Amino acid sequence: MEKIVALCKRRGFIFQSSEIYGGINGFWDYGPLGAELKKNIRDYWWNEMVRGRDDVVGIETSIIMHPKVWEASGHVGGFTDPMVDCKSSKQRFRADEIYFSPVIVDGKIVGYVSMLESERTTEDLQEKAEAFKRKKAIQGKLEPVQPRDFTQATPEEIPLVPSPATGEPGSLTPARNFNMMFETYVGALREESEKTYLRPETAQGMFADFKAVLDTGRVKIPFGIAQIGKSFRNEITPRNFTFRSREFEQMEMEFFISDEDDWAKWHRYWIDWCRNWLLSVGLPASHITEYNHAKEKLAFYSKGTTDLMFQYPFGVQELWGIAARGCYDLSQHAKFSGQSLEYFDEEKKRKYVPHVIEPAVGVDRIALAILCTAYQEETTTDEKGQTETRVVMRFAPRIAPVKVAVFPLLRNKPPLVERARQVFKLLQPHFTTEWDDRGNIGKRYRYQDEQGTPWCATIDFDTLGEKGPELADTVTLRDRDSMKQDRVKIADLVPLISQKLRG
Ligand code: GAP
Repeated sequence: MEKIVALCKRRGFIFQSSEIYGGINGFWDYGPLGAELKKNIRDYWWNEMVRGRDDVVGIETSIIMHPKVWEASGHVGGFTDPMVDCKSSKQRFRADEIYFSPVIVDGKIVGYVSMLESERTTEDLQEKAEAFKRKKAIQGKLEPVQPRDFTQATPEEIPLVPSPATGEPGSLTPARNFNMMFETYVGALREESEKTYLRPETAQGMFADFKAVLDTGRVKIPFGIAQIGKSFRNEITPRNFTFRSREFEQMEMEFFISDEDDWAKWHRYWIDWCRNWLLSVGLPASHITEYNHAKEKLAFYSKGTTDLMFQYPFGVQELWGIAARGCYDLSQHAKFSGQSLEYFDEEKKRKYVPHVIEPAVGVDRIALAILCTAYQEETTTDEKGQTETRVVMRFAPRIAPVKVAVFPLLRNKPPLVERARQVFKLLQPHFTTEWDDRGNIGKRYRYQDEQGTPWCATIDFDTLGEKGPELADTVTLRDRDSMKQDRVKIADLVPLISQKLRG
């Protein structure tokens, strides 16, 4: 992960926001390559989800909405995370991320151990319990730890659980609920009546505009409304690079179905759709798993939620949630707005409130999964038999920030540079194209490999016809992954690269 973060900064994928002022926790900027990467993700999703389908329409709603939207959606009352403070270190934690256990020797509790949740919570707590027993020189048989998260600590246990910051008990406060919505005020007066929120999800825009979209007459159930946009959550502990940020981008789609339709069939359909989409942007099937939320942990209105989980370097984490939400959201907005949000089925002459299946994903989480998957180090041997490490970002070509780089073999030979400029201008309207004439060709390849450019075109003396007419007006096209170089006619470059991108 450290290597990926360093490469992201060095090559201009992702920077800390406001870095010259020391940064601001949970906010990130995308540099020139990162902005292209994200745009490719968004565009590809929009093409597949909206433009490529005749049953989904796209919208773009405002970030700040009427405050009643968030009352109706339940966010004002319940969009909270349990928060704990460490009074000694002044650090703040999410209570459900602190795990603790009593240390039990010969059936008696002799102390407590704690840690922040990890891939090996139980094993690490067990090791801590053994170390605790050793340090205190306690004799007897140590029992296996019984990990619980801090929300489950009893009032008697709270002062006994060590802070993960200091390792000492007595400084953790009881968990209290913290609403994650960012508040703001609309208009000149900072009064409660003017208070509203930065949206914590894009989904409510689709519910609030359901009637407006229906009234355009373009849609008939089953149909979906999709949008891409920024969301904001005042996360207690932003972490794992961009994985959990305070400002992030979502791609969500609300798929409305009849109340009589088989919701489980549609739920399955959208889980499979999302999984296939992830495969088509180059994520390996071996890293994607499904996690079904336990029935008893679901909200009362929810019929089922499945998360597509991704194996990031820091653990298996949620990437894409696909929720079957019944008719809860539309019913709530109908209740709070006083407007009917029913659908009239012309054929059956019947009115009902549609049910919804919601695939919701974060662009930043996809970008991070793609960056982590693409990063590879390889040992290569050059013509002189010297080995070196090649860092290569193996992006799926359709997602790669730069599709093709154009090099004149030598920068001080005007005929080469002029011909290379012509090739560059030929490609530029079709693909994200980069010009590079620095250093030698080997260095330029390494540079392009590190930013994941799938193809490099070099204009050399053969291109100018110096070795005979058969090679005139051809370039070498070098493939990032195989490192093979083919001689390609300049006139064939655009159709050839276009075809490779579709493939
Ligand atoms: N409308 C449903 C909804 O927003 P969610 O599971 O809270 O559901 C959907 O969010 C997706 O948005 C997540 O699966 C994740 O990809 C992304 N996401 C949520 N919180 C995020 C955060 N703090 N930083 C980055 N991405 C986040």
